[in-house]
Amino acid sequence: MKKLLLCVSVLLGVFTGKAETPVYLDDSKPIEERVEDALSRMTLREKINLIHAQSKFSAPGVPRLGIAEIWCTDGPMGVRPEVLWDEWEQAGWTNDSCTAFPSLTALAATWNPDMALLYGKSIGEEARFRNKSVLLGPGINVYRTPLNGRNFEYMGEDPYLISEMVVPYVQGVQSNGVAACVKHFALNNNEINRHTSNPIVDDRTLYEIYLPGFKAAATEGDAWSFMGGYNLFRGEHASYNPILMNQILKGEWDWDGAVISDWGAVHDTATAVSGGLDMEFGSWTNGLTNGQSNAYDNYFLAQPYLEGIQNGTYSEDELNDKVRRVLRLTFRTAMNRNRPWGAMNSDEHVAAAREIGEEGIVLLKNDNNILPIDTHKTKKIAVIGENAIKKMTVGGGSSSLKARYEITPLEGLQKRFGDEAEIIYARGYVGDPSGNYNGVSTGQDLSDSRSPEELTAEALQVAKDADLVIFIGGLNKSDHQDAEDSDRETLSLPYGQDELITSLAKVNPNLVMLNISGTGVAMPWVNEVPVILQGWYLGNETGNAIASVLAGDVNPSGKLPYTYYASLDQVGAHAEGEYPGHKSIDALGNEVMDIPYNEGIYVGYRYIDKNKLKPTFPFGHGLSYTNYEYGKAVAPKFFAKDDDKIEIVVPVTNTGDRKGKETVQLYVRDVKSSVDRPYKELKRFKKVELNPGETKDVKFELDRSALSYFDADKHDWVMEPGDFEILIGASSGDIRSKTSFKAE
Ligand code: BGC
Repeated sequence: MKKLLLCVSVLLGVFTGKAETPVYLDDSKPIEERVEDALSRMTLREKINLIHAQSKFSAPGVPRLGIAEIWCTDGPMGVRPEVLWDEWEQAGWTNDSCTAFPSLTALAATWNPDMALLYGKSIGEEARFRNKSVLLGPGINVYRTPLNGRNFEYMGEDPYLISEMVVPYVQGVQSNGVAACVKHFALNNNEINRHTSNPIVDDRTLYEIYLPGFKAAATEGDAWSFMGGYNLFRGEHASYNPILMNQILKGEWDWDGAVISDWGAVHDTATAVSGGLDMEFGSWTNGLTNGQSNAYDNYFLAQPYLEGIQNGTYSEDELNDKVRRVLRLTFRTAMNRNRPWGAMNSDEHVAAAREIGEEGIVLLKNDNNILPIDTHKTKKIAVIGENAIKKMTVGGGSSSLKARYEITPLEGLQKRFGDEAEIIYARGYVGDPSGNYNGVSTGQDLSDSRSPEELTAEALQVAKDADLVIFIGGLNKSDHQDAEDSDRETLSLPYGQDELITSLAKVNPNLVMLNISGTGVAMPWVNEVPVILQGWYLGNETGNAIASVLAGDVNPSGKLPYTYYASLDQVGAHAEGEYPGHKSIDALGNEVMDIPYNEGIYVGYRYIDKNKLKPTFPFGHGLSYTNYEYGKAVAPKFFAKDDDKIEIVVPVTNTGDRKGKETVQLYVRDVKSSVDRPYKELKRFKKVELNPGETKDVKFELDRSALSYFDADKHDWVMEPGDFEILIGASSGDIRSKTSFKAE
């Protein structure tokens, strides 16, 4: 009947010359009306087709109705090059090189939400230009262990820092009519055994540590899509986990977006149908090249689902909910006529990548003010280490990129200092000479047949005669380092770098160690090396960003988004919890890896504080070429019953002779509580720019949620009246001022 009416109205339109735009195509109409209209016109098969892939990264839409295809792309640090329809290999486009932005740990290290907005806007423009509807990022899984191979794609250890940075990233991406796809929801905290990992986490830990970033992305950022993880949680895979997806994300958070599976994360039709999954991707990779029929038709949410509805196993209601969510996603993105056009590799994007990189670099130690480099005194610079010459935008898994160009650290230093100083390079060690990922190549041949002894001897010789030695090492994107699908096997630096660094420190006291990694490493030589920086993977502008910080063109202002542990027994997950867990058999008889998170809420600095440990560098730490003095923090005496918030003020002065930016951190301590609470928790931070001699009053507003803990029995956040202390710090290990109040 409906179809008949539709035909009649179309024909009427033709005869009267007044073709009426169907409601679903009319973007002046509210989105929910359009969704209902489109839904009412779709056949059962069209609905089924809408919710699963037709290629590696796309879903077909509804061609008959002109409902657009959805194209996804990785994410999260640049737009992935185009792959073949059914395979991971390159499609061979010549116009799909992108701007490679810094890793998300570097972004988090800026502690600057404006940088997150700029990042999101810029990467979103690139995705839009390439006609993508969904950017598979940002990744925000909590840094539970420094061994997690994907820490570099995430935003560190603290739920509040993550929340503050993820919201503007999402908003920036989506201002282009491109959906952010926040991943990997949730508890995907290690790569080893990622398909069978089964974290065992209590509700309080879940709500206080592992969910806040996702909640902020869903409720404040209004992210249009989420990606489920590969791991399990309480008996079900995360991508269609009834607790995570139905109860929490779509229930408690009242979220109307679409849940996308991780690629190959679906294993069963019935549970995928009921567990809140809306779109299935990547279930197997042989698409049309193998087998009797189109493999996509055999996806769990394809033919088996269709047949299940036809034979009454599943109701169409659940399918309609999925379809509504995918239609919403489509109208917000591919069918949004008002979206801007986007841009690829624009000057603005390159400038953004550089600025974010410069602001993310963390000066961990600067004894004797060796930095910034004084070119009046420094005439001969020895640069040592493989990471000085290695391009890092290729590799590491799905975030691997085809960057339009990549300036290595050595090139950046040569460009910046080459006219004023002699720069001599020595390799020092051979780590990973490869540079290929899925058919993208860096074009570098880094093979070197010299023995470790020869390489060390050359490095020491070069270092001995130099005015300054800059060692650039760390990790890279090969397996068991900063890479997807494997974790690191140790906290130590690979390839004998510790020995080399120790020897370098002996031959030249003017030694700078620039560590390039996306996660913490052990630094047994920390006391022997006067200058240490955390450099991250910084994308195309890596070398330029590093050179401007070393030169002092930019005053460093990054702060660590995670604790720099001295050893694994300082990590709650290793000391009290389990990692990578133990084998167990689940209710269905499958072998899984149970990972009891016995450390509970004591992740990162919360564990360090509880056990009064001394990490190599604390969470939130980062120096500058100037100094900041903190005055006395002032708070009202009472947080009265009728007040919704109070203001805390602390004056901060730049006492040096350089302009700089300082991130002032506010931690809350519940002095007496009926439950065990962390010694302190980050609840606010603000980055302020100060001229030499300038003082600014840094103001924070606190509401009751900042004082609360999650009460699992009540299933709610609870603030217990009583005394609270406010600790204002330059890092979690450097508290500069304290104040307190009584909350009623
Ligand atoms: C990763 C995702 C990624 C997807 C598509 C998966 O292996 O876990 O983060 O977005 O592949 O490439």
